[in-house]
Amino acid sequence: MECCNLNVKPWCAFFLLGFFVMFAFLSSFADAETHYHEFVIEAKPVKRLCRTHSTITVNGQFPGPTLEVRNGDSLVIKVLNSARYNISLHWHGVRQLRNPWADGPTYVTQCPIQPGATYTYRFTITNQEGTLWWHAHTNWLRATVYGALIIHPKLGSPYPFSMPKREYTILLGEWFDRNPMDVLKLAQFTGAAPNVSDAYTINGQPGDLYRCSSQETVRFPIESGETVLLRIINSALNQELFFAIANHKMTVVGVDAAYTKPFTTNVVMSGPGQTTNVLLTADQPPAHYYMAARAYNTAMNAAFDNTTTTAILEYKSAPCSAKKGQSSKSILPQLPGYNDTATATAFNAGIRSPSQVKVPTDIDENLFFTVGLGLNNCTRPNSPRCQGPNGTRFAASMNNVSFVLPRTNSIMQAYYQGAPGVFTTDFPPVPPIQFDYTGNVSRGLWQPVPGTKLHKLKYGSRVQIVLQDTSIVTTEDHPMHLHGYHFYVVGSGFGNFNPTKDTANFNLIDPPKRNTIGSNPGGWVAIRFVADNPGVWLMHCHIDSHFGLGLAMAFLVENGVGESQSVIPPPADLPPC
Ligand code: C2O
Repeated sequence: MECCNLNVKPWCAFFLLGFFVMFAFLSSFADAETHYHEFVIEAKPVKRLCRTHSTITVNGQFPGPTLEVRNGDSLVIKVLNSARYNISLHWHGVRQLRNPWADGPTYVTQCPIQPGATYTYRFTITNQEGTLWWHAHTNWLRATVYGALIIHPKLGSPYPFSMPKREYTILLGEWFDRNPMDVLKLAQFTGAAPNVSDAYTINGQPGDLYRCSSQETVRFPIESGETVLLRIINSALNQELFFAIANHKMTVVGVDAAYTKPFTTNVVMSGPGQTTNVLLTADQPPAHYYMAARAYNTAMNAAFDNTTTTAILEYKSAPCSAKKGQSSKSILPQLPGYNDTATATAFNAGIRSPSQVKVPTDIDENLFFTVGLGLNNCTRPNSPRCQGPNGTRFAASMNNVSFVLPRTNSIMQAYYQGAPGVFTTDFPPVPPIQFDYTGNVSRGLWQPVPGTKLHKLKYGSRVQIVLQDTSIVTTEDHPMHLHGYHFYVVGSGFGNFNPTKDTANFNLIDPPKRNTIGSNPGGWVAIRFVADNPGVWLMHCHIDSHFGLGLAMAFLVENGVGESQSVIPPPADLPPC
């Protein structure tokens, strides 16, 4: 072949050079894989607490399938909706760079996948390692539609701790002994607080302390002396949880798919949406030990599920008396009191980045958002639709705006198409009225204003947000989740945020990187990030009952310069509205 005998004609050399460049390019990606999955959303009978419910699942599994990938891999997940509800799926914590189309929240970045329809989520994991998860992002379907998303390091790159031989995923969930969608519907009708769950679960099982459950209690075998990695995911719908293992300490090594400075603790506190990776060493006498989770509840005068879910850590060399059928011999861990904010605060304070990180210092957008509940007054108090406190309806808001999802288009699509009337970009950067947020708030400030308001951010702007809890109705810890980003948690405290005093105490050295952080009950939390991911990104309380009441807002991050700083075009199969 004349061309390639290196007796060079100029165009021929060009061709060869191109070939080598291409080869080098491809081989640098040789390790990255693409994982193909099919998720069929379907109702399946699931029996818990003595009763069988027709439960919405993925592929008939509850909890749903675990996705396991490496950093740099891509996922192609074809979702077929064979259930009777509209649905969309969200890949919680995945950055989805320039790709809001794969993020998933219904009516925010896409219209729902209707019964009988399909949508294929295509996305790549970029510079993230650790534990994330996925869940339905439509009404309360995530009560049962969720699963783990595990991201291993790239081939040949190690964990920053000695590699455990064994890993276990611990999905903490919440089970309702009725259709969760009906629980939501009832609350939406009455305006009262929704019914609380009937059980917590570990990998879908309530455990020994509930009726009709001990046959299926989850067991985690362990070898004496070995160290295992536990990936603890709070996939509960509405509840922060404490988690502990009898007689064992845990060493936290990562949260929300970011590594942390190892720190040792008896108890983990996790808000809905958060993940915690811990190392556990089997250094106790061979026996069976319970791991257990129960509520960390900060709302005052509110009903909550005060039950305890358990699973069993089983030393393989445990004496026969501890073996199956005699699980009553297992030892229960000490869990903190339901409202033990001191323990929760100490736990959060222990979480830091492994070493010095690059926190944005010159802030372009200094935002202050109140987060909290509210009450809507009724013209006919105490009527069937006004069964909330004093004949009102429950509401929730950020900066007094109660977020309303569009119903006929998604915000991202409306933005991309330039379709007017779906949202506005006047979300206030500070509360419209300043008041003593955590003091005795006058009744006139309890009623928020509904709206679909976004806050615009310039590409690349350096953002600080102080999330300030209010005492309206009740102070409460609100686990705030930002889509499309992770952020540094630079400070937190109780009472009202004081810009001078509190800013001076920020940790700008080794703050933890997260995607979900609690506001502190009657307090505040400060986060920082660089707005380097264009698109529409929801920020909301990950307590689903609060999200549904309007405890949310969204950012519209504008495109930067050129293609590499702009949202990619939508996929052809994006569900029609
Ligand atoms: Cu894990 Cu918008 O949620």
